[in-house]
Amino acid sequence: SRLVAHLAEILAVGEALEHALALLEGGDVVAIPTETVYGLAGDATNGVAVARIFEAKGRPRFNPLIAHVADRAMADRIAVFDPLSAKLAEAFWPGPLTLVLPHRADSGIHPLATAGLDTIALRMPRGFGGELIARLGRPLAAPSANSSGRISGTTAGAVAADLGDRIKLVVDGGATPVGLESTIVKVEHGELRLLRPGGIGAEEIEAVAGAKLLRGASGIEAPGMLASHYAPGAAMRLNVDKIAGGEALLAFGGKRAAGWEQAIALRNLSEAGDLREAASNLFAFMQALDRVGAATIAVEPIPFEGLGEAINDRLARAAAPRDKIG
Ligand code: TXA
Ligand code: MG
Repeated sequence: SRLVAHLAEILAVGEALEHALALLEGGDVVAIPTETVYGLAGDATNGVAVARIFEAKGRPRFNPLIAHVADRAMADRIAVFDPLSAKLAEAFWPGPLTLVLPHRADSGIHPLATAGLDTIALRMPRGFGGELIARLGRPLAAPSANSSGRISGTTAGAVAADLGDRIKLVVDGGATPVGLESTIVKVEHGELRLLRPGGIGAEEIEAVAGAKLLRGASGIEAPGMLASHYAPGAAMRLNVDKIAGGEALLAFGGKRAAGWEQAIALRNLSEAGDLREAASNLFAFMQALDRVGAATIAVEPIPFEGLGEAINDRLARAAAPRDKIG
């Protein structure tokens, strides 16, 4: 037989709900918009659907996935909330916060989705995703909608270009407002640990928790923290104050690095130096500069406060040695 490439259908959120539901009920995967990045969603209780997610992403390993819920009641059927996690859910859900919690044995979540761990990452997305999960009545497992090692899709077009020959439907909700994955935290012995910086700044979480976040990995439990994860084809040079001929420039703020006129292409994450705007532009601008074919993308310094921590984290991964891609 001959292999015939098909391309995913792209439907706007307003007309996609029934089709997306039918695909999910049938154990298929669908790319959906969330406030952070697009997710490659499948029914978290269906092992075939979860396997299809890994297959479509081409993941070398079965990393644990985030289970997305419609409301607290659904979350409570899946995991056990301590008082601090409950307080954070109350403050930030729906929104770009993921909580890692003890997993209930009878949650119905397929073990492939949790990679066999006895904890589970939970998040309640805003908008279309929440509506879809409520209609399905079951949680959706959804990693970022990108092939393994590629940057997370923040527009339906980017998702379709990357995964369109492997999935049937991309739901188009426009560019995702946050532009970075969710912040992941976990309560450990009454203290709160930051497992992945993301769409909510650590300071905002600390203000609600009334305590500092612990930093640094504890053990092996977050494979997503692999050094290299987002890898453009170009090499990345970070924190540059001077650019070399032939480089593309990823700029930030109003003041340019020396030699910027020689850049073969330039994108400014935020002219105004606004870290929210910079976060929402990050992946699309890295992709755009990669497409001009520069051997190296030079990146101006980004401050570490607020969303700057997550932006610097993603840039460091993009710059990490490529033999570590996870
Ligand atoms: O914004 C987001 O979080 C997006 C959207 C689609 O919701 N999703 C996303 O999923 O970024 P993914 O699979 O690309 O990243 C999930 C992260 C991984 O780093 C994984 O290792 C971590 O969550 N994770 C999942 N379960 C975990 C657990 N039980 N303990 C610690 N880390 C966990
Ligand atoms: Mg990802």
